[in-house]
Amino acid sequence: MLLVFGSINLDLAFQAGHLPLAGETVLGNGYLLSPGGKGANQAHAARRFGLPVRMVGAVGHDAFAAPALASLEAAGVDLTGIQRLAGQTGCAAIMVDARGENQIVVAPGVNLALRHSHVADPTLADARAVLLQMETDPAENQALVARAKRHGCLAVLNNAPAQRTPPELLQALDVLIVNESELAQTALGAGIAPGPEPALRVQELARRFSLTVVLTLGSQGVLACTAEQTLRLPATKVEVVDTTGAGDTFAGVFTAALVEQQPLRDALARASVAAGLACTQRGAQLAQPGRDDIEAALKRYPAF
Ligand code: RIB
Ligand code: NA
Repeated sequence: MLLVFGSINLDLAFQAGHLPLAGETVLGNGYLLSPGGKGANQAHAARRFGLPVRMVGAVGHDAFAAPALASLEAAGVDLTGIQRLAGQTGCAAIMVDARGENQIVVAPGVNLALRHSHVADPTLADARAVLLQMETDPAENQALVARAKRHGCLAVLNNAPAQRTPPELLQALDVLIVNESELAQTALGAGIAPGPEPALRVQELARRFSLTVVLTLGSQGVLACTAEQTLRLPATKVEVVDTTGAGDTFAGVFTAALVEQQPLRDALARASVAAGLACTQRGAQLAQPGRDDIEAALKRYPAF
């Protein structure tokens, strides 16, 4: 079982020709109300890949709680660890332009009231891995990672949205997944000097903290370093409609493949293909491919 500890949001996504400038009003082309939140998106991606997934997260006592959980429920994610807390369900205001680029403001609501104590010890004992992001309280993440390591779980962090990660947290992790701006923040937190070559900082993080570090580079593909090896894979070529949640799809599928003990290269290939497919449709969870879609698409990329 994979345990995902993290945020649950309802996404309200507007499509427009261009993203508004400060003070500008833009007439859009429509909107989509759909389940999101980095934690929930990653849980959904891993479940669609075929893994048993349990999500521990929080929703409020409001009308957004049920629609925020709808896709997780439909996909068969174990929701018995979901907390219903006083306050608002997390909500994201998303704007997507004609090229699929987005801007997002998240009101975290009760996601910030999620506590590591909401994860019971037997859940950690059952989990092969725990997957976390940074839309919940960082101190709670750190405490949960420490507990997870005592239970022998693989600890995977997607440092998104980017926070400065204390060295003790990096030390306790097994896998770190970041994009370029998240890498910059992570390296700063670890006291690694900024430099022009991101690959060097990825290697330094991997070496110093005995981590598998995965750097997602969007259309430039993905770079992964362990203490022993460095791997690069190109991105798949897709018609981009909406990139929202593509990084979450990557993190969920990558972690799911690691839990299945797939080799690093195979896990990266599946995650890259899945993230590409997720960009071809609107919405975060609504756009995520299932395992068959991923395996079928992989056949089109002999380089993988
Ligand atoms: O990563 C995409 C997600 O970020 C969206 O689903 C939105 O809820 C925000 O949390
Ligand atoms: Na999408």
